[in-house]
Amino acid sequence: MNDIGFEVIGTGHHVPGEPVTNDQLSRVMTTSDEWIYPRSGIKQRHYAPEGVGVSDLGAEAARRALANAGIDASEVEYIVFATMTPDYIFPGPGALLGAKLGIPGVPALDIRQQCAAMLFGLQTVNGLIQTGAARTILFIGAEAHAGFMPWRDWGALDPASGRFATPEDRERADRHRNLAVLFGDGAGALVIRATDRDAGLRGIKICSDGRFAELLYVPGGGFRRRPYWQPDAFENDMHIPRMDGRELFKFAVSKLPKTARALCAEHNVSLDEIDVFLAHQANQRINEHVRKDLKVPPEKLPHNIDRFGNTSGATIPILLDEEMRAGRVQRGQLAMVLALGTGVHWGCALWRL
Ligand code: ACO
Repeated sequence: MNDIGFEVIGTGHHVPGEPVTNDQLSRVMTTSDEWIYPRSGIKQRHYAPEGVGVSDLGAEAARRALANAGIDASEVEYIVFATMTPDYIFPGPGALLGAKLGIPGVPALDIRQQCAAMLFGLQTVNGLIQTGAARTILFIGAEAHAGFMPWRDWGALDPASGRFATPEDRERADRHRNLAVLFGDGAGALVIRATDRDAGLRGIKICSDGRFAELLYVPGGGFRRRPYWQPDAFENDMHIPRMDGRELFKFAVSKLPKTARALCAEHNVSLDEIDVFLAHQANQRINEHVRKDLKVPPEKLPHNIDRFGNTSGATIPILLDEEMRAGRVQRGQLAMVLALGTGVHWGCALWRL
């Protein structure tokens, strides 16, 4: 499907601060490790500190990826930045990242396909390379979900503080606990370059269906309203996403295996030929369903949700960085990317690394 190949020449990731465990969350919400871990596979997550945005997290991950590639930032010809938690409602963080890396003027495209960002990002990167728009592209996925967490007293998360949320704050946080326990912050970066090697996108099947947008969405802060922030927005928690976790779960476990099979059939690839399945990490149980349905051995579907939670658009770049640095995923291998994110956007891609 492509005349020009592309390969990942460097990877990097960054997660902010110390991890926050499930037990620590129970200081501000009525929850527990016994509830969270078996239902999601999550043990801990990281949160961006106050004042730190995705352009900062992304810049740190990008520096690591550029160092890993052994190239200078000045060699980057295009930035593609995926996030659902931008520093500002607008502009997007791609240009901010370019400025932070000392490469102002480099075109930057912001994409917002939430947890499905890697799929849309791959197709975008491929298009940029095929049209000759760029040969060296920095792909960033970064998220700072901390801004929508439903507690006020961040200090209470630290057992050394001796504090717990007030009953009133706890009651408020409990209304959002199904969502709040899942997400964590971080950034992953990939330096991608055109190559003569037999590598790049081999096939992709992506879908979007806005009829289901409200399975996970932020009710406040939209430009349908005048003004776009209503005076009572915070009082009514309109900045906190609402999620129908059960429906999203069902959506993921029904759509992903079907799409994976259809993509393989279209490209005459058997599931056995795939070396690694790079799956978005929304819930370990979703990935276990998909893995068993596709009869994939556990070692072929790596996970890191236990340490980072769901880092939305950052997840697959972080995962790829960890796997490549550990040597478990290597150039030349055939990867399948699988993801589903709110929108709803979902699909699969075959990627020769
Ligand atoms: N701690 C303790 N109890 C809780 C918590 C919590 N954190 N959250 C919910 N509960 C309680 C509920 O109040 C409910 O109690 P009740 O039975 O007394 O009413 C009970 O646990 C069950 O709640 P459900 O929400 O029905 O729990 P479920 O088993 O569906 O698991 C979960 C919830 C983990 C969120 C699951 O539905 C899930 O992971 N879904 C997928 C979500 C997803 O993929 N989201 C990301 C989309 S990707 C993107 O674009 C960002």
